[in-house]
Amino acid sequence: MTSRAGSVLLVIMGALTLQGGGAQQEHYDESFRPQVHSSPQRNWTNDPNGLVYFHGEYHLFFQYNPYGDTWGHMSWGHAVSRDLLHWRQLPLAIPEENGVMIFTGSVVIDRNNSSGLCETAKECMVAIYSGDVDTPEGHKQTQNLAYSLDDGRTWTKYRNNPVLDLHRGDFRDPSVNWDDAHDRWIMAVSLPRDHKVSFYYSEDLRQWVHVSDFGPAGDTNGEWECPDLLQVPSHGKQGSLWALKVGLNPGAPQGGSGEQYFLGEFDGSTFHVSEQPGAHGWTNYGKDDYCAISFNGIPAGGQPVLLGWMNNWDYAEKVPTSPWRGQMSLARRLSFVSDRAGLALAQVPVIAPLRETAVILPRFTSSGEEQVATLSPPYELDFEEPSPGAKNYGVRIYSDDLHWTEIGFDLIKDDFYIDRTKSGDTSIPGFGVRTDAPLVRGRGNNARLIVDRSSVEAYVQGGTIAMTDLIYPKSASNRIVFFSSSPGDGKRHAQLWKLASIWQTTDAKRDATKR
Ligand code: FRU
Repeated sequence: MTSRAGSVLLVIMGALTLQGGGAQQEHYDESFRPQVHSSPQRNWTNDPNGLVYFHGEYHLFFQYNPYGDTWGHMSWGHAVSRDLLHWRQLPLAIPEENGVMIFTGSVVIDRNNSSGLCETAKECMVAIYSGDVDTPEGHKQTQNLAYSLDDGRTWTKYRNNPVLDLHRGDFRDPSVNWDDAHDRWIMAVSLPRDHKVSFYYSEDLRQWVHVSDFGPAGDTNGEWECPDLLQVPSHGKQGSLWALKVGLNPGAPQGGSGEQYFLGEFDGSTFHVSEQPGAHGWTNYGKDDYCAISFNGIPAGGQPVLLGWMNNWDYAEKVPTSPWRGQMSLARRLSFVSDRAGLALAQVPVIAPLRETAVILPRFTSSGEEQVATLSPPYELDFEEPSPGAKNYGVRIYSDDLHWTEIGFDLIKDDFYIDRTKSGDTSIPGFGVRTDAPLVRGRGNNARLIVDRSSVEAYVQGGTIAMTDLIYPKSASNRIVFFSSSPGDGKRHAQLWKLASIWQTTDAKRDATKR
């Protein structure tokens, strides 16, 4: 190689390393660019992968196409955070190689080097991912390992991959956890077209023993993907339950991709669904929250944290963003509630540290419709049922006179909804819809909204209803209008906060996310 060719190569390599590296973090200011949600600087992303906490960092790996803004060449991208809010993108973690794409999976901390892959280190990170490959015998999905000895910065694929091969074309998305009670690893992995989650155990992450299958159960309208098995603490009281979450695509109730959960018991081998009402539910009633998984490695006693891909396979490749396509939901802390209506999973978003300025809202007047503020996203708006109660109330966020998103309660139909039919760019097929969730009486008709430049996340009835919907508004300025079907003297209980952008923060804050 000539020295010129060598230096050209170095420049290219430098550019490639930076892409997804550190310097680009300054910008993140394009229209529709999420300001409180994680998104890659450029190119396509789908599912979060390998969520794990290790040595003071939360790691977000994600399905990533290093070469373009549509699905393909699937590899694992990488970002880290110290607070689940400020993310810093790092160089590509695990690339597609020899025609094997790196599909969804998890990362565990192998604390005692049970796998033997940590070499001389006491503990290391091990990724368990699905390899997707076309072979002469046909299309195959298998389970594979890769390991990192430097806190996830570089990865080596295990030389005896795959570790689990059923010679099937649909066998994917392993979710692996340490089972403390039985001193072994447990894997939940999907057989998508059979609508089953298979459970395996292992002592060394390399040899896996099949113990049971769960399903078909609940909704089987589409393929089952991205299972996640986790233990969830009770809200406020003692005790815990197991939750098995599984993605469904297509055919979810709101159209396209959706996710159902089952609450019950796991004895180390078999998952049993509880017989209480509410044991089967939906992690999200919006259109745009898919393949959420929980963080491994959360210190003992910490609440589980779930994070999903904010999109829907119905139109994911068509959303009007550039130079990136795809973003993640907020992280949500999980618990379950058990009340007179039965069981439910509850989700509380991690957002409070970004609250900047509390916006003073005018006193409630006697009109049925009232503009209370003009604000640019990101912001948080929390509101409760007005008193005296109204049958239909909520908020409209206008981006111009003809375009708004309506978020409301219809207490005649016991329904909470986000209506984005007039939200802005709704030309993408399947996008211009209203999403609905059944309200449960007695759980309190409150809502917490997180409005970003291209999304609304709603947490309702104490987080037992989560609804996440993308929007592509006509401008970056919102008129916030409350409406209520029963005008009159009364009280509106609402709070509005301007949120700090995770990208436009001070150097000190950004540095806090650095190692
Ligand atoms: C779900 C999914 C997974 C698969 C990945 C491929 O969104 O289809 O089942 O592993 O995406 O990118």
